Amino acid sequence: MNEFKPGLEGVIAFETEIAEPDREGGALRYRGVDIEELVGRVPYEKVWGLLVDESLDPGMPEPEPFVLARPTGNAPSDLQAATARLSAEWGLRKLVDLDDRDARDDLARLSATMMSVVAQSARGRGQQRVPDDVVAQGETAAERFLLRWRGEADPRHVKAIDTYWICTAEHGLNASTFTARITASTGADCGAAMSAAVGALSGPLHGGAPARVLPMLDEVERTQDPEAYVKDVLARHQRIMGFGHRIYRAEDPRARLLRRTAKELASRRFEVAEELEHVALAALREYKPDRPLETNVEFWSAVVLDVAEIPHDLTPAMFACARVAGWSAHILEEKRTGRLIRPSARYVGPSPRPLSAVAGTPVPG
Ligand code: ACO
Repeated sequence: MNEFKPGLEGVIAFETEIAEPDREGGALRYRGVDIEELVGRVPYEKVWGLLVDESLDPGMPEPEPFVLARPTGNAPSDLQAATARLSAEWGLRKLVDLDDRDARDDLARLSATMMSVVAQSARGRGQQRVPDDVVAQGETAAERFLLRWRGEADPRHVKAIDTYWICTAEHGLNASTFTARITASTGADCGAAMSAAVGALSGPLHGGAPARVLPMLDEVERTQDPEAYVKDVLARHQRIMGFGHRIYRAEDPRARLLRRTAKELASRRFEVAEELEHVALAALREYKPDRPLETNVEFWSAVVLDVAEIPHDLTPAMFACARVAGWSAHILEEKRTGRLIRPSARYVGPSPRPLSAVAGTPVPG
């Protein structure tokens, strides 16, 4: 296939057995199981098991003892750097030198410890660490995450985070997962693949949109005029955050689940979010009649994470916590293919020319 597709849209780069986003049907299945069945039935760490091992047991283990030395206040940066460091500190071996079982165990250790890194980064500099015996009182990964971060775990917050993590644990070949697979395909170690994925996820078009949704809701709450807000964004040819998706042409099923969760948890932003959603969808239909632009996962994620009082700037790192499951599953799947990913680029640069034609060439003599 030699046709160039900007952004690789529609290009099939892999076959996968992990997750199936049902583009037209608005459903998302992990190893065949609809996420609707998982939320509220099993905690995130079991969903990690479903995605990585195709079995709920044993699931993601508890984190290893790890102290984040100097939190910077930028959780994705802390996470990316700490994950890369873990490779060296734990002496992780290259994927090419591991069997599947050992690779899976490295990914399990990393996944759990990455969550601990984010909790410690969120707790911030200068705060005393929460004692391990307090953290150990948590029964689920979400509960332990909150205990490590805040020293307490409000059950509403636990439910918000657990639901959000399950809904966003895996979604096929997005930018960060592609990055993880590319890195894994070189035979690098699991820490390198996971930290590369964190970098890819930190951008607002992928993992950072919730951070931009809440300011939008604040603005609409202030002006009480969602129509004017939406009209202004589109008149400036800007994007309304939380709408549009590369895959779904029907509603993003995760948005549906998270909307329901926001309502169940009595989010104080539910009404304003629902009103803005309604107005934005109508305006987008008029703005791009030929391209379905529906609510995506990030719009209602922002509202659910707000219930758990997650600060805006922590949302990309919360997304990374969720996605450790998907990344781990894809890194293992990639390892099994044993094939280096190396696509091509069509050269469209300058025709052959002498060095003297290039600006800055030293003049002889
Ligand atoms: N608001 C306004 N216009 C939009 C939006 C939006 N949210 N999304 C797409 N469009 C417009 C684009 O401006 C473009 O118009 P043009 O053809 O006149 O340039 C057209 O629709 C097609 O846009 P693309 O960028 O080609 O669509 P794509 O499928 O590549 O984009 C994306 C998907 C990046 C999510 C996009 O819809 C977007 O930027 N949304 C806002 C950011 C966001 O919510 N990100 C989270 C995504 S979910 C996730 O990553 C887990």
